[in-house]
Amino acid sequence: MKWSGRILTFLYKKASQLLFGNSDHADWILEKMQRPGSIWLTCRNLWHYWRGNPRIAGLTAIVIEPVYGCNLRCKTCWGSMEYVKNRPARMPWETFTRIIDHLPKSVESVTFSLAGEPLLHDGIIPMIEYVCKKGVRAILATNGTLLTGEILGRIAASPLSVVNVSVETDPELNLDIRGVDQPQLRKNITHLAELKRPEMEIKLALVAHSGNDAKMSQVKEQWAGLIENIKISPEFKFTGKDNLSACLELWRGNVNILTDGTVMPCCVSVFSGDIDSIIIGNINEQTLIEIIHGERFRSLLAGAAQGNPPPPCQKCVEFRSPNIPRRALKLGR
Ligand SMILES: C[S@@+](CC[C@H](N)C(=O)[O-])C[C@H]1O[C@@H](n2cnc3c(N)ncnc32)[C@H](O)[C@@H]1O
Ligand code: SF4
Repeated sequence: MKWSGRILTFLYKKASQLLFGNSDHADWILEKMQRPGSIWLTCRNLWHYWRGNPRIAGLTAIVIEPVYGCNLRCKTCWGSMEYVKNRPARMPWETFTRIIDHLPKSVESVTFSLAGEPLLHDGIIPMIEYVCKKGVRAILATNGTLLTGEILGRIAASPLSVVNVSVETDPELNLDIRGVDQPQLRKNITHLAELKRPEMEIKLALVAHSGNDAKMSQVKEQWAGLIENIKISPEFKFTGKDNLSACLELWRGNVNILTDGTVMPCCVSVFSGDIDSIIIGNINEQTLIEIIHGERFRSLLAGAAQGNPPPPCQKCVEFRSPNIPRRALKLGR
């Protein structure tokens, strides 16, 4: 890591400790935020959050859903959630280029993820290249099972900055929760590590829940030497009913765009199956700048700040454990 990355990691560890009571989010923050302008914008977004102002200063990152659907049925995700809102299985190229062509200059990274497996999109490599040609970093979240053969080589040669592969804590849980054969997945990751450009980072993403919480500490040792970092995020469920706090996610300066162009400010509520009330616009009708400064987002933020967040937020429950960093910071007002 360059010296600038080391300094930022040090600062982000302090910021993560201050905000989340745990320094483990430093790597997530570094992945998304490397430009001084993004840090300044995020400070202003945080200020609006603390003040309960119904606005954000701007966007630093976006997440795109290239595919709505998956080859797996992980028990925390497609295996258990009810997906009531239908949308196209693949994001059309026109929708995608519309997003990137009108991307605010303040956005420094585009992550391919959300409710599906991005590698199922046959245009994923051109999408990654299109993003990077605009001078924006591209990040991929994948279950890693399709990282074989030709697509493995094309991903390895692509200008992606980071490939995040989602895993469970051990082979038994990989099979039980994700339906994935860990030895095969390890082979895929090993091949990617051999073929990739030196600048590309491979990281693991884990979802912490009651079944794997105690096993988290084993993961680092198991994958030592093969991957750059491990990111742990708590499992989110939508089984609560009275969470009225204002969640930082809405003010984070990140929006999520679904296959049909729908824009929403929270990435985990895609698992709720009840997203209408958290939609702030559609990229086919407005630009991102118009959407984040528009009336729908303003009234969503005002409601959240006044203790009346939309239904997915009220139902949102985050897995809690002393070992696991919190993800959603929530101010009660
Ligand atoms: C939904 S997946 C989409 C990308 C890709 N299919 C993958 O598995 O990485 C993005 C991330 O969300 C995580 N995830 C799944 N269910 C979750 C839940 N209920 N709460 C929090 N994260 C979850 C996955 O493990 C994965 O790391
Ligand atoms: S976590 Fe990823 S791989 Fe698993 S079902 Fe969800 S989208 Fe598919």
